[in-house]
Amino acid sequence: MIFYRRFNVCRYYSVVIIFILMCSLFISFWFPFSVQFAIVHNFLAGEIVDFTGADNETGFDTFIIPNVVHFVRLENHQMNFVDMISLKAAFLHQSPEKVVIHCDCHTLHGKYWEMVKDLPGLEIKFIHKPTHVFGQKLSSVHHASDIARLKILMSEGGIFLENDVYIVKPLDSFLKFEMAIGWPPDQPLGTQVILAHKNARFLKLWYQSYKYYKPDRLYYNAGELPTQMILRKQPNLVHRVPYEFGVRNLSYFLYGVHRTDWENFHAIHLSRNKAHLASNVMREEFDEENIKTYNKTFGDMARLVLFGKTQMVVKSN
Ligand SMILES: *[C@@H]1O[C@H](CO)[C@@H](O)[C@H](O)[C@H]1NC(C)=O
Ligand SMILES: *[C@@H]1O[C@H](CO)[C@@H](O)[C@H](O)[C@H]1NC(C)=O
Ligand SMILES: *[C@@H]1O[C@H](CO)[C@@H](O)[C@H](O)[C@H]1NC(C)=O
Repeated sequence: MIFYRRFNVCRYYSVVIIFILMCSLFISFWFPFSVQFAIVHNFLAGEIVDFTGADNETGFDTFIIPNVVHFVRLENHQMNFVDMISLKAAFLHQSPEKVVIHCDCHTLHGKYWEMVKDLPGLEIKFIHKPTHVFGQKLSSVHHASDIARLKILMSEGGIFLENDVYIVKPLDSFLKFEMAIGWPPDQPLGTQVILAHKNARFLKLWYQSYKYYKPDRLYYNAGELPTQMILRKQPNLVHRVPYEFGVRNLSYFLYGVHRTDWENFHAIHLSRNKAHLASNVMREEFDEENIKTYNKTFGDMARLVLFGKTQMVVKSN
């Protein structure tokens, strides 16, 4: 009896093995060995775990990155006007399955949070603020956020956005890539918009490069090092988006002139960082009143999200 059962199990395994061998024989005519290995590996895992041979120009036939938007908020739990506009734009212009705010908090505060907190599909997920990387202490909350976003993408995949990134139109066409990033010509990659499958090769390499963490340099590990040491040599690891993710310094475009071609972007980083703002632009805080007549590009963008149209809104006294 035992002998008989063992025989059956053996037969089951041999059928599976013969099937796999036949499959690999079949694909061996088309692909080099490393890619064959990846195909078998992915087949057995039931998901993509090995991206060897993935094409960064054409991507996959289906969406492989989840349509989930991730924001990270550390220390600052007060939502401001620009963040509220960005959050609403993510819902309205991307239509994600859900939007997750990863926060070292359980709820956010402020009147702008009240305006968005009930959006269906919005959730806050508690995380501990990262304090160390590979044994070194993180020097600032910016670096903690850089680490958090990589970890979140490595565990879930999806669309990471900085809190002040405005989605102009759906990023769906980029969901078929292993990873897509904004990387302007002659600049380091931008970390404000990152789309990635959780097993994307560059995510892991980027995270590993924090072994060479330099606490005193703001943009070294987030942008310069991964661009110079990894992507210059292996640009095939990402789908490079030079302009459409709007990660360059667009402060003049947004706050210095009134342009209508912002609709050509897929996303725009709304940076109100003092270093980005020219001295002659409006530097005071925006709010739902002064935005009604703000006659620059950002005015149109914010009004579209708040009032459903770009035109200026006449004040009723
Ligand atoms: C894809 O990778 C190649 C290198 O293999 C690189 O030259 C090209 O710019 C990349 N294309 C995109 C859209 O990122
Ligand atoms: C808004 O700015 C444009 C120029 O950018 C100007 O032509 C127009 O008159 C301005 N509108 C108002 C109401 O200030
Ligand atoms: C960004 O652009 C503005 C306006 O063109 C300029 O004044 C500012 O110095 C730039 N900031 C950086 C960090 O490049």
